[in-house]
Amino acid sequence: MGKSSLIEQFVAVLGPDRVLFGDALQGRYAHIWQMETPLQALCVILPRSTEEVSQCCAICYAGGQPMVVHGGLTGLVGSTVSRPSDVVISLERMDAIEEIDPYSKTMQVQSGTILDVIREAAQKEGLFFPLSFGARGSARIGGCIATNAGGVNVIKYGMTRNLVLGLEVVLPDGRIIDTMKKLIKDNTGYALSQLFVGSEGTLGIITRAMLKLSPLPQSRQAAWIGLTSFDGALQWLRQSEAALGSKLASFELLWQDTYEAQTSERSPYRAPLPHGYPFYVLMETHGQDAVADYRELSNLLESGMESGAFEDAVLAHSAVDLEWFWNIREDVTVMTGATDFTQSFDISLPLQEIGDYVALVKPLLEALPEVVNAYAFGHLGDGNLHFLVNKQMAGNALKMEIDRIVYAPLSELKGSVSAEHGIGLDKKQWLPLSRSAEELALMRRIKEIFDPEGLLNPGRILDIVDKT
Ligand code: LAC
Ligand code: ZN
Repeated sequence: MGKSSLIEQFVAVLGPDRVLFGDALQGRYAHIWQMETPLQALCVILPRSTEEVSQCCAICYAGGQPMVVHGGLTGLVGSTVSRPSDVVISLERMDAIEEIDPYSKTMQVQSGTILDVIREAAQKEGLFFPLSFGARGSARIGGCIATNAGGVNVIKYGMTRNLVLGLEVVLPDGRIIDTMKKLIKDNTGYALSQLFVGSEGTLGIITRAMLKLSPLPQSRQAAWIGLTSFDGALQWLRQSEAALGSKLASFELLWQDTYEAQTSERSPYRAPLPHGYPFYVLMETHGQDAVADYRELSNLLESGMESGAFEDAVLAHSAVDLEWFWNIREDVTVMTGATDFTQSFDISLPLQEIGDYVALVKPLLEALPEVVNAYAFGHLGDGNLHFLVNKQMAGNALKMEIDRIVYAPLSELKGSVSAEHGIGLDKKQWLPLSRSAEELALMRRIKEIFDPEGLLNPGRILDIVDKT
């Protein structure tokens, strides 16, 4: 189909103001970390309703036109990058919170709603949407769901998958699937809506979600802990889980140089504990009684200190302390600030393997002359390790070399190349390390059922029938 006829058809559905092309594309970008790099696209369309998404998909499908979906543009695997010939469908104008039901503890939202807006709206009703990570002020819920995002509270509340009760999805040809029920229990055959969670926009465009909420925790208690060994951190995790049960909401680990970089002189954040410990844990509890919860964590830390489980600990005493503690863990721009080129990883491993794995892999990465440093940190409670590798240069050969060092040991350890960020364009050649040939063949067949022409988010996760 000709470009002008395609744009005319979009204008007929959306009106002229919500079809951006030519000069109107200025200021658009593919990722919030690359706002200076102009977006490559035939046009960007801005639907406001499911029906508009459906009509635009039908137009694309009829014309064999590839589509790339945009949400908050905070993903970490290149999934929002488009080519000059792609139509970008952005869900940013579909950001309504449609209903909060305090009895079912559900929230019905359009998929372009920003995660923090959802969290704040729940809180106003005395409820809690637990999904949380550094980019929560920009990430939109449709992208969180498409990625099956993880974050810092998975140990207590689960992944995004566990927080989605139903979805409304537009298939690439414009058909609409609606599983928007408020049901915790619904054993009626295959869990179709769950198939879209973590599908990275390759099977359909999520337009609405029925989110599962929790009662609002009345108290959050947090502490930084300094330890001398990885095994010590693992033992402390076990002891904390045993003592705190389901109150334990976060258990994050930073290797020494990561903590020191995050609290160095060029960081805006002071160090809550002195530098020099080989490991630092940030743990948090959620409960309903601030006085009792503070006492409980404080007693636990005291007994840990007395028994020699760790060297040092400091508790948050206020909301300001909580923000300070978490900025050290979440504001990765401090770590990446010194270099222009970074590569980030989000692998999964059995917990007991993580210490030896980092002891092996980190020096290999840092031995590469182009690598400035490889910061290790992660959601230890979930067995999810991050590496943030700062490099002196870009280039595919270097990227591949770094990828190989990080991923090579994973199959034998029965790990995963992605714990929470997904595969996208960046990791697909490594997917066979985590998935068997049979699994990949089934995944291809599923993609073919939903998108036989390979038009939606082409090339993400799998190379399949991208006909462009
Ligand atoms: C984090 C993101 C990178 O945990 O997953 O900070
Ligand atoms: Zn993470």
